[in-house]
Amino acid sequence: MTKPEEFLEFLKKRRTIRNYQDKPITKEHIEMILEAGRWTPSASNRQPWEFIVIKNREILQKISKTGAYGLPLKNAPLGIAIIGKKLENPNWYIQDTSLASMNMMLMAWTLNIGMCWIGSMDREYAKELLGLGKNDFLLTVLAAGYIKGKIPKSIPRKSLGEITRIIK
Ligand SMILES: Cc1cc2nc3c(=O)[nH]c(=O)nc-3n(C[C@H](O)[C@H](O)[C@H](O)COP(=O)(O)O)c2cc1C
Repeated sequence: MTKPEEFLEFLKKRRTIRNYQDKPITKEHIEMILEAGRWTPSASNRQPWEFIVIKNREILQKISKTGAYGLPLKNAPLGIAIIGKKLENPNWYIQDTSLASMNMMLMAWTLNIGMCWIGSMDREYAKELLGLGKNDFLLTVLAAGYIKGKIPKSIPRKSLGEITRIIK
């Protein structure tokens, strides 16, 4: 088991990465990331998700053009679209898929793979490109690639005092 202090350090050191090496992510590494997604907890264990591995750079670039901050997708050798299947867990598909995205980002970090959670994009257009339907919720397309250059310094977080309250 990981030591708690080491785990906290691991969480603190993870960064959003927006520059990637121009080389494909290995099949083994992709599978590890997908497995991390598969083992995410979900409400009633419904697992209302689909993960689409996008190796097609043209598609990634098309999606990147639609977002103000979608740039990371433009340089990424890989994208992983995380889809919530609305009908499979109508009340919880957003929470379930959000957790899956975090599991995947953490697994990627152990593999020297940097990711960026892309929120800024035209979802309807992206859904069309990915062949998704009206009951599919496109949470994000995670931009992914082996980290290029230096890992940026951690950016500050609010202090615990600012964000916690203890009820005795
Ligand atoms: C819901 C969500 C949406 C985000 N959307 C974008 C985005 O569209 N483009 C981008 O470059 N970064 C995006 N990010 C990355 C955040 O900017 C980043 O996680 C945040 O600044 C904290 O930095 P860190 O991940 O390095 O700790 C998003 C992150 C989250 C959680």
